[in-house]
Order: sequence, then C-alpha cells, then structure tokens
Amino acid sequence: MSLTQEFELPDVIQGGMGIAVSTWQLAREVSAHGGLGVVSATAIDSVIARRLQDGDSTGEIRRAFASFPNQSIAAEILHFYFNDNGRNPGAPYLDVPKLSLKPAKLTNNLLVISAFTEVWLAKENNSGLIGINALEKIQLATPATLYGAMLAKVDYVLMGAGIPTEIPELLRQFADHKAVKLAVDVSDAKSKHFLAFDPAQISVANLNLVKPKFLAIISSHALAAYLAKDEKTRPDGFIVEGSSAGGHNAPPRSKDSVGEDGQTKFTELDEADLTKVAKTGLPFWLAGGYGTPANLAAAKAQGAIGIQVGSLFALADESGFTRTIKDELLEKLATDTLNVKTDPFASPTGFPFKIVEISGTLSDASAFDDRARNCDLGYLRVPFERPQGGIGYRCPGEPIKTYEFKGGASEHNSRSKCLCNALMADIGLGQLRVDGSAELPLVTFGSDLAGAKELSKIHPKGWTAVQVLNFLHSVS
Ligand SMILES: Cc1cc2nc3c(=O)[nH]c(=O)nc-3n(C[C@H](O)[C@H](O)[C@H](O)COP(=O)(O)O)c2cc1C
Repeated sequence: MSLTQEFELPDVIQGGMGIAVSTWQLAREVSAHGGLGVVSATAIDSVIARRLQDGDSTGEIRRAFASFPNQSIAAEILHFYFNDNGRNPGAPYLDVPKLSLKPAKLTNNLLVISAFTEVWLAKENNSGLIGINALEKIQLATPATLYGAMLAKVDYVLMGAGIPTEIPELLRQFADHKAVKLAVDVSDAKSKHFLAFDPAQISVANLNLVKPKFLAIISSHALAAYLAKDEKTRPDGFIVEGSSAGGHNAPPRSKDSVGEDGQTKFTELDEADLTKVAKTGLPFWLAGGYGTPANLAAAKAQGAIGIQVGSLFALADESGFTRTIKDELLEKLATDTLNVKTDPFASPTGFPFKIVEISGTLSDASAFDDRARNCDLGYLRVPFERPQGGIGYRCPGEPIKTYEFKGGASEHNSRSKCLCNALMADIGLGQLRVDGSAELPLVTFGSDLAGAKELSKIHPKGWTAVQVLNFLHSVS
C-alpha cells in the first residue's frame, strides 16, 4: 500500500484562519461535503470564554460541554465565564489567564475544553473529516489545545508559522494519555526550558484516543526534507503555502526584503521546489492563490493531492468574520478596490502579515496611532530569561517603554500591531475599554484575488461554504 492510500485524502482543505474565522460551522459544512474542514485553535480559550459571557444564546457551547468527559471541569468553566443574560451593555469581557510556562490549572482546563468544544461541534452529526489548525509560535497553548481536540476525536492537526518538529511525537504520546514536555523557545536563555502537560490533570485516561494525522504547513522544500527524514519529526503530509496566502507568510529569504513600497518583497527564492517536496514520498497540498477550478487541476497536475484554500472560505456565510467585514470585502471586490498589502512589521511575530486596507480598521494609520497600546491577551508574548533570573514575557505589540524595559529591542517595535485584540474584533468579540472605546479590527486576506473575483461575479451578495466547494470542483 502506498503512503497516500493509507488515509482518506480530500482534495480541498479549508484552511485554518485567524482567531475563529474558521469556525466550527464553516469546518462542519466543508467536511460534510467532502472537504477537510478545519477549525482554528488560535486563542480558542478566549473565544469560548467570550461566547459564554455573551450568553451562549443558541446553547451550542453548553451542548458540547455536556459531552465533555470530565463534568467537574465543564462546571468550573461555566461557573467562571457563563453569563445567562449576556454582558451588560458597555461591560468589558473578563479576560482568561495568560499563557505561561507554569500555567494555572484553570488555563489548561479552559484550553482543553475549548478546543474540545470547537472540534466536537464541527463533528456533531457529521461523519466527515475535521482538522484543527494551530500556530507553532503559540507554543504555550499547544499541548493542552491538542489534547482537548483529541478528546473530541479530531482527525487532523495542521500547524505552520514555525518548525513543528515535536508535534508528531506529542500526538503519539497523547494517544496513550502520556505526559509531555514541550521544548519552548525562550529568548536570552542560558538553559533549556520546557512546558509540561500531564493529561492526568483532566482525569479521562479511560477514553480510547486515536492519534490524528499531522500536516505541516511549510513554504520550503528544505523544511519538507528536514521534517521527513526522521520518523520522530515526520508529518503525514505537507501543505506548501506560497507568499500570496492570507494571514502570516514565511519570512522572505532574500536579504533586501522590503520593497520601495514598504511591503515585503518575495522572490523566486521563496518558492518551494515541488519535485523535491514530492521526493519525500508524503502527500501534499498547495496553498496561496490556488482557489480556482483551474488551479485545483494545476495543483493535481504537479503531483499535489489538492489545495488548501483560505480567502474564499473567509468570505463564506459560515465564517467568523463579522457580516460588516464580509460586506466591505465583497463591495471592494465588486468595485475592484480591494487592496491587500504585505506588511513586514505589523505582526509581533516578525513574520510578514497580509493586511486589507479598510478605513476604520487598524490598517488606517490614524486609527492605529490613536489606539492606546495594551497587551492584555498576550498570545504572542515570548518568554525571556531575566538577567537577574526567572522568566518574563514580552511582546513588541505592548507599550513601547514596557517592551524596552523588559529588554525587548526592535527598531520596528513602534509599528507592531496588537493582532490579538484586532483579530478578536474581526469576529465580533472585541474588547471594550474603560473610556468607552472598542478595539478595532484588522483584516487579513490573500493577495491573489482571482478566485474571489470570479466567485463574486457568480454570487455578488456572498456565498456559502458549499458554493465555494462547488465552484472549485466546477469544470474550468
Ligand atoms: C483571514 C485569513 C486568516 C488566516 N489565518 C491563518 C492562521 O491563523 N493560521 C494559518 O496557518 N493560516 C492562516 N491563513 C492561511 C490559510 O489557512 C490558507 O493557507 C491560505 O488562505 C491559502 O491561500 P488563499 O488565501 O489564497 O486562499 C489565513 C488566511 C486568511 C484568508
């Protein structure tokens, strides 16, 4: 049996997007119609905690919680965050504890049940395949999130934005409910640091767990070869993502990487050699501007199983973007005024980030300048070893003086945007501030608009996830 026959391989993967742009509703629709539906793991604890504070009006979170195998954890989280009547007008959200190398029990419990919930809802009454997408950079959330997703029988784990060497082994350990120690990148460290997570804390060791398939999201053939060469690090497949993809992009390889227009400049050095990826013998999908029927066929002709598509699905009715954001994007597509820039400095991660220019969002220089810098969600904080000992956490998006005081140094610091708060605002879960202001969105989208323009001609008022699948599978 060849490797590719060992597991089911859909030809369309709906990419994991944003903070809950890839909702369970979107993933479920895609999966029920033959694609791989993917929910986003990023900040999933805040997403669930805020939906609960808004009253869980459809009851879906409590329905998932009722199926969580440890009911005392479900009760604890409801006690902390559920507000039957929703928040009072003007009341801010109660924040969840920040991630750390020594997480509180509540942090792990909330991560586990939140990931469980999003996957469980995507799989409810649905026999299709569901994946969860996590960012390698948010290491401190990884173990508890992936364990929670496995409790809900997630079929695939997808991970990019870093080099996910430890994930295959971690998933194997979790299938046996074994404790793990994840090596964590700590700046200025003189010794190695690990994040420990023991499933015994969740007390559900009697459940049978299956190791999900792991797809590494990469942009270079060298990384494909590196990950594939050792059984310990070898994924079950690759998503090869090019530089036009929405969200973060891999850092450019050329030295002179900022163009005269202030955008990240990509060159042919940033294009993966697909024959070398194919040589690993592992199945792969292509992402970044592949969302057209012609490009699905072209990807297959290059040896790929299919494609991963994000932008088209981000505009689907079932995605988490607010209706206002979707309508704004559709209007811009119709009038040919959708401008997507690759900003080298906006993301605290240091990776290039695609940004749509929309007035009234943080893409607006004046709106960005007016925002009081604040780091209260902290998903992109990086741990560092303090000179006097102990671990601190810093993020280039926090107030500049605080960041510098913590030893953070970057000439581009002042241009870092708070993605955590902005991406929560993108999905209607933005924080309110004491002065009455609300956090503003910042919208990301792929820069190759061919598929979105074609689809917007067929469905000018917007589309559903199934209409995206039908479009991709239509004869070009
Ligand atoms: C709104 C949006 C948010 C995204 N967020 C993420 C993310 O959090 N993690 C990730 O691995 N990829 C993310 N992506 C990339 C998609 O998963 C997918 O690979 C990409 O969109 C494919 O290219 P396309 O935009 O041309 O369809 C995002 C894409 C979009 C459009």
